[in-house]
Amino acid sequence: MKAGRILSGMRPTGKLHLGHLLGVLKNWVELQNSYECFFEIADWHALTTHYRETEEVKDNVFNMICDWLAVGIDPNKAVIFRQSDITEHAELFLLFSMFVPLPWLERNPTYKEQLREMEGRDLFTYGFLGYPVLQAADILIYRADTVPVGEDQLPHLELTREIARRFNYFYSPIFPEPQAKLSDVPELVGTDGRKMSKSYGNTIPLDTEEEELKKIVRGMVTDPARIRRNDPGHPEVCAVFAYHKIFNKDETEEIAKACRRAEIGCVECKMKLSEKLNSFLTPIREKRKIYFNDKKTTWDILFEGNKKAREEARKTMDIVREAMGLKIKW
Ligand code: TRP
Ligand code: SF4
Repeated sequence: MKAGRILSGMRPTGKLHLGHLLGVLKNWVELQNSYECFFEIADWHALTTHYRETEEVKDNVFNMICDWLAVGIDPNKAVIFRQSDITEHAELFLLFSMFVPLPWLERNPTYKEQLREMEGRDLFTYGFLGYPVLQAADILIYRADTVPVGEDQLPHLELTREIARRFNYFYSPIFPEPQAKLSDVPELVGTDGRKMSKSYGNTIPLDTEEEELKKIVRGMVTDPARIRRNDPGHPEVCAVFAYHKIFNKDETEEIAKACRRAEIGCVECKMKLSEKLNSFLTPIREKRKIYFNDKKTTWDILFEGNKKAREEARKTMDIVREAMGLKIKW
């Protein structure tokens, strides 16, 4: 017996990096063993912000499938599908739009924050305001009860529950109220010590080759108090050390001590990290290449996933149309 049904998704807006892997994907790989999982490539959601860059979206979708498969999402355990292939999502989104009060959307903190963050893009669009309504349709169309997401998505989940409740109250109680499942790993910092984000250019993409990896690690921010080799360091403020704690657990203590006593230089410390990161990323990179080069197999995996997702979505829409009085028995 499965513990429940999961729906989660990611927007295909660019390369996946270590932050996605540790913060989200590792969790998914675990969950696919105990839950019935639907993992969505939310390409319509990508369009809400990137509606001028449509030519990139399909490549990003393909790359995202490769990344997911490379890190261990298993199409025999989980359903991998693309949002725009399941057009039923759009129908449910439209029906929800009829009864979702505008203030629910306007007060959404994630919406307000994104408007601020993405300055330079015109996001005063109908689609962007409706982003969480589409997300609610994504989740509820599979009648998922569990949604693994990051903390930034909690307002969207709350809104999803409010939409489910309103639907259930107005028409017929058919939707569960899905719960968020936060991952318990602390966020991985970027290479400059700030939050890891593509817009800061401080990420480590999953397909980084060895030489490039060395370069990135060489450029990582260390303890600013260590100016000379014999200045004692403070590992707790150093981004390199934060990575050692995750990718080089066995030597963490030793490195912390050596750093505090100025017995290890930052150059050497970074070299050690490069090696560890490289052995971590090599199998992922290799597996990724196989999927990337075998385009047919990889697209086929999506095709098959789409079929399974569509079947579930259709079942729900049938019930929804009935509940909203739209169904005619011909
Ligand atoms: N909004 C999510 C994000 O930016 C992506 C997403 C789209 C999603 N649809 C979803 C997440 C449904 C969970 C469930 O990360
Ligand atoms: Fe950071 Fe390592 Fe340098 Fe210490 S020795 S400051 S942990 S890079």
